[in-house]
Amino acid sequence: MKAVELLTATGGGTLQVAERPVPEPGPGEVLVRVRATSLNFRDLLVMDYIYGTLPDVVIPLSDGAGEIAALGPGVSGLSVGQRVAGAFYPDWITGPITAAARARSLGANMDGMLAQYALLPAHAAIPVPDHLTDEEAATLPCAGLTAWNALFEVAGLQPGETVLLIGSGGVSVYALQFALMAGARPIILSGSAEKRAKLAELGAETIIDYRAMPDWHEEVLRLTGGEGVDAVVEVGGPGTLERSLKSLRIGGTAIAIGFVAQDGAGVQPRLLIGKSARLQGMTVGSCAQFHAMNRAVARHGLRPAIGHVFAMDEVQAAYDLLRKAGHFGKIVVRVD
Ligand SMILES: NC(=O)c1ccc[n+]([C@@H]2O[C@H](COP(=O)([O-])OP(=O)(O)OC[C@H]3O[C@@H](n4cnc5c(N)ncnc54)[C@H](OP(=O)(O)O)[C@@H]3O)[C@@H](O)[C@H]2O)c1
Repeated sequence: MKAVELLTATGGGTLQVAERPVPEPGPGEVLVRVRATSLNFRDLLVMDYIYGTLPDVVIPLSDGAGEIAALGPGVSGLSVGQRVAGAFYPDWITGPITAAARARSLGANMDGMLAQYALLPAHAAIPVPDHLTDEEAATLPCAGLTAWNALFEVAGLQPGETVLLIGSGGVSVYALQFALMAGARPIILSGSAEKRAKLAELGAETIIDYRAMPDWHEEVLRLTGGEGVDAVVEVGGPGTLERSLKSLRIGGTAIAIGFVAQDGAGVQPRLLIGKSARLQGMTVGSCAQFHAMNRAVARHGLRPAIGHVFAMDEVQAAYDLLRKAGHFGKIVVRVD
């Protein structure tokens, strides 16, 4: 089979297309014929060897979808030909996260999805909504599930509440779509005029240009009548966290997810204390949460935003686009 290999420590993060044998599913495993994959900011951290301890050579990307090609012994409840996506943490089946549940993740310390075939534990092969294309389904596992959990599990977002979203990356665009789906009010930041127009096409009504308005928290407070937002999906990190906390209402929740904005100083705990606000870290989600998200995606006919589609041989260009944040919506790599 054709597979992309990422040479980590020794190869300095280079990618190569290689031939590997098609793996055989063992007991409790399924073999997936992958049709499409998608990239996340996290895949740059893996490429740059700043994502824990990695094997010297790994098939990259956590996110991919296709159809089941073969079932290993003892697998029930799934069938050959069924369309599935892989779970980011294949050992996190349900319940709160544990050390064991997050010990392995696809495309980092175990092979990921950027190959014609991938082996998954059967419980981590998650059936995808029928209305989605393979390319759309391939964007669900990391960005989609992270946004879903941040909004509905961690923040407990309710219809009518207001949520602040930072930038127009993969997690934020999914969070925008989910917030609108749930009848909440998103306020979203973007530093690009072109991307702001695309956010508006997706239904965003309140968009702030964070470059033109560096004190954007003041605008968020103005837009919420001085009260602040109920929640912020905090993907910025050091460069945005202080302003995100200033944007929160009393008793609001900031969900610490990422760090696309690195240029920042330390944050004062007093920003949380006076407001009795909550800062909660989180990481992606469980297989059970993936099923729950898919039910909502199917029920609402939600279509993930895909900005760019590359062929497997063009994978380096896909990474380059992600690194310069030239994308809007998810970057997909097809696996033909
Ligand atoms: N904890 C988890 O489980 C988890 C899961 C998924 C992702 N993450 C993390 O969450 C972050 C986002 O991931 P992603 O895949 O959605 O990233 P992404 O698609 O690469 O996001 C890039 C976008 O971030 C925005 N951005 C960059 N600098 C900014 C700044 N100073 N202020 C505001 N926005 C800024 C830009 O939006 P504009 O171009 O519109 O300005 C840019 O297009 C990453 O740090 C990732 O590692 C964590």
